[in-house]
Amino acid sequence: MTAPQTDARPDTAAPGARVTLHPDFRRGAVDRRLFGSFVEHLGRAVYTGIFEPGHPEADEHGFRRDVADLVHELGVPMVRYPGGNFVSNYVWEDAVGPVEQRKPFLDLAWRTVEPNLVGTDEFLQWAEREGVEPMMAVNLGTRGVDAAAALVEYCNGEAGTRWADLRIANGREKPYGVKLWCLGNEMDGPWQIGHKDAHEYGKLAAEAGKAMKLVDPSISLIVCGSSSMQMPTFGEWERTVLSYTYDLVDHISMHAYYEEVGGDRASFLASGTAMDRFIDRVVASADAVGAERRSDKKITISFDEWNVWYLETRFPGEENLPIQRDAPRIIEDVYSGLDAVVVGDLMVTLLNHADRVPVACLAQLVNVIAPIMTAPGGEAWRQPTFHPFATTSRLARGTALDVRVDAPSYDTARHGAAPVVTAAATVDDDGSLGLFLTNRSDRVVEVELAHVGAALGLVEGWQMVADHEPAVEGPEHAAKVADTCWSAVDVAAVVTAGASGDTRVRLAPESWTALAGTFARA
Ligand code: AHR
Repeated sequence: MTAPQTDARPDTAAPGARVTLHPDFRRGAVDRRLFGSFVEHLGRAVYTGIFEPGHPEADEHGFRRDVADLVHELGVPMVRYPGGNFVSNYVWEDAVGPVEQRKPFLDLAWRTVEPNLVGTDEFLQWAEREGVEPMMAVNLGTRGVDAAAALVEYCNGEAGTRWADLRIANGREKPYGVKLWCLGNEMDGPWQIGHKDAHEYGKLAAEAGKAMKLVDPSISLIVCGSSSMQMPTFGEWERTVLSYTYDLVDHISMHAYYEEVGGDRASFLASGTAMDRFIDRVVASADAVGAERRSDKKITISFDEWNVWYLETRFPGEENLPIQRDAPRIIEDVYSGLDAVVVGDLMVTLLNHADRVPVACLAQLVNVIAPIMTAPGGEAWRQPTFHPFATTSRLARGTALDVRVDAPSYDTARHGAAPVVTAAATVDDDGSLGLFLTNRSDRVVEVELAHVGAALGLVEGWQMVADHEPAVEGPEHAAKVADTCWSAVDVAAVVTAGASGDTRVRLAPESWTALAGTFARA
């Protein structure tokens, strides 16, 4: 559906924007897993993405050092694997053991011949070497309880049972100890291989999860929520699957992708508001199930796919992809400064739900709708979206404050009324502050920062401003966008002291800003 063009943002500066910080108003601890990402066997995410034997930067295992360095710079502590839609037809047993004996298979999710050169062991050992936590998904599309429990045993079992012994025979003595497990992927979606209705999926997830926990009771489980808030079964799906799994699982998944459609920039800039409402609705649905059960348990959210993705406007649909092999280019979206502002703002939303969203994955990590791109045999580079993500991951530490924002709102065609300014803040035990602000207006906005109960010091900052240029593929364009849109903030120039002891910050039009400093009790 194409939304009508609209840009109803206030056309004057909005001096009324006010952000209030108080050290005692707290949302919750910021779980580092909020800065997770995702590697699927899709396009060039694995092959010529993280893994490219023969590349000058490849290590002795065939994984690219230059890509891993960027993963560290991005600040990703956790990576989801192996899908995504891919997992719903994956036979994990075919991708373990001697590589020369593995057979390629036709992945129906992306209509790609998967060579099975990278499988569970290669991925988990890469994650271990790079110090990132793996988050695994099991196939509940074409397979079920047996294969899921066997995979947990293969990954986490001690010697002396069939699948654990197979891992040991394959050269890995020590269990991997994978803690976080997704019970399938987007099972509500008709595009999913082995798509199910909520009752079918809820029953299967409950049985698979039960068996997986019997293998290893220390694991945490994520049940599939809706693939997006637009799914016709949204709400009812959450209620039904949780009615089967409430006592068993820890998290329910959310997925959301945002894009600019039909030149509707105003709606696109308000994507964070749509994400905010989506989270509130899933939390309400989960809590309603808990209330009916008179349960004290709170289900939290694994927002295990989120990003800007030009899904409606650039993606032809899985069914229209030709069958391909040799790491084809699939959904390699290129990003603009505008996209990067939206990504920063989506992170503001996630931080503001730190109490109920401990896990999130930027989908994806490399080449496929990703902050990191590679040329086969060539360089690796940062897309514009890399910068706000890396900066937020670096600065958002400790506890997310319950930030109060008073700002004018504007009407959007896709998401209704949305505030012109959004804000999130974190404070660490040592008093270091991370403050994140988005100005969705096309005018400068002066924000009054009211800091109650603690002294505020702002020391340095970084800013992404939106552009009006179409994004172009390649490292040269990404570098050009970074040069024009991404910069250090001259704090002395944009931050001023107000008459009443408050602090004022000037935000550039259509911008995302991160400020680092201190917030210490007087
Ligand atoms: O991230 C790309 C795809 O988006 C994933 O495979 C799927 O889960 C979602 O629809």
